[in-house]
Amino acid sequence: MNENHKNKFIGTLSQKELLKLYSKYVNAPKVRFFKGFGLGFIPGEREGVKLKTLEGSRVGEPPLELYNCRTSGGVFNLGHRNPRILQILKDALDGGLDLGDHILLSEQRALLGKKLADLMPGDISKTTFGVSGGEAIDCAIKFSRAVTKRKGCVSAIGGYHGHTGFALATGDPDFRDIFLWNLPEFKQIPFGDINALRKAVTNKIACVILETIPATAGILIAPEGYFAEVREICDDTGTMMIIDEVQAGLGRTGELWAVYGGLYPNEKVVPDFIVLGKGMSAGIYPLSVCSYRPFIEKAVYKDEPFIQISTTGGSDIGCAIASEMLEIQSDPKFLAHVKEMGAVFQKGLEKIKNEFPDLIKDVRGRGLMWGVEFYKEDDSQLGMLSIIKEGVLLDYCHNKKDTLKILPPLVVQKRELDEILSRIRGGVAKLKKLKT
Ligand SMILES: Cc1ncc(COP(=O)(O)O)c(C=O)c1O
Repeated sequence: MNENHKNKFIGTLSQKELLKLYSKYVNAPKVRFFKGFGLGFIPGEREGVKLKTLEGSRVGEPPLELYNCRTSGGVFNLGHRNPRILQILKDALDGGLDLGDHILLSEQRALLGKKLADLMPGDISKTTFGVSGGEAIDCAIKFSRAVTKRKGCVSAIGGYHGHTGFALATGDPDFRDIFLWNLPEFKQIPFGDINALRKAVTNKIACVILETIPATAGILIAPEGYFAEVREICDDTGTMMIIDEVQAGLGRTGELWAVYGGLYPNEKVVPDFIVLGKGMSAGIYPLSVCSYRPFIEKAVYKDEPFIQISTTGGSDIGCAIASEMLEIQSDPKFLAHVKEMGAVFQKGLEKIKNEFPDLIKDVRGRGLMWGVEFYKEDDSQLGMLSIIKEGVLLDYCHNKKDTLKILPPLVVQKRELDEILSRIRGGVAKLKKLKT
């Protein structure tokens, strides 16, 4: 990273001054929250698998240089400012692109649509674009209601699909109660419990929506056969099956799609919808995707081609960038690298668990998506802080706070992963010392 990280955009004011501005003009409780955790820093320079804070967490402390294993939930799958993606952005601008007009037809949307269809499981071959994951989830739920002429939705307790309208309604009460947004037709059931799902899916249910690996719920791993049975239940009841791969998709498990061989190699399920966000941006330009089977297009768009629109969703620049990202991330060599690094990471995390059996209860995940569950919630939070101090940025699962969520960039190299593991171990060792 550049030694002198002050430039026109980074380090324009002192961190203290910026925190004051953030408090005054953006969100004071958020500043208080991070300061309260001892994490009152602002990210500055970022490159590859690392980012640097403008200054230390507390006044007078040196800036932190962190391996980014938060990756904003998979936004930075290709690391920060991936050179191939930066080049495409420059080429797209030099080549005459801008956002494009969402009402008109678009060359870039057509090309990206085809690329997605070529890569998607089964006959999923139609795509409606958006800006955020929540927007694409809303689209999938809306379309399910249009197809089935039903209102109900079944989702997982602790699952998370976004803060927008229908997406918010699928989630846990803490984010929706204040907005009086408790839709009576929306039900939550325990993830992985097929009997609970079977009971909940009646002929009033439009869709079942699930993350293949629920991240906010604690990186949960469903028993083998679960998603195949979800498919069967949906088929039997005429219910749409929506799979949210905003975090688990795009190669995170070592397969392009978690639901199609990434969770279990022999379990390849074709849902009705696959929703993508975060990583579609390649960390550079926002784009989300709601892809679905062709019969859905017929039912939804039959009388009104503008039934779902998004002014900045599916922009020409966003599509050009996402197309290059897919080129990189669908390459079998890239996926093999994720698998190889995933095996190294799993082994390393299990070793740490075995060294600290009184602190760590479980380690679970796939590819480069891992959860480390502590026996006690306090320990996971203190563990997180201790690991961040060692130089690895990660966080806890919002709806299962005893579990740390670790998503390294997919481009991470072996020596970097060894360093990350050694720092995670160091953080846990310091927690252990603190407690004895
Ligand atoms: C699994 C999952 N789905 C959907 C979303 C919503 O994405 P966005 O914040 O882009 O609306 C998120 C965001 O964290 C997510 O983790």
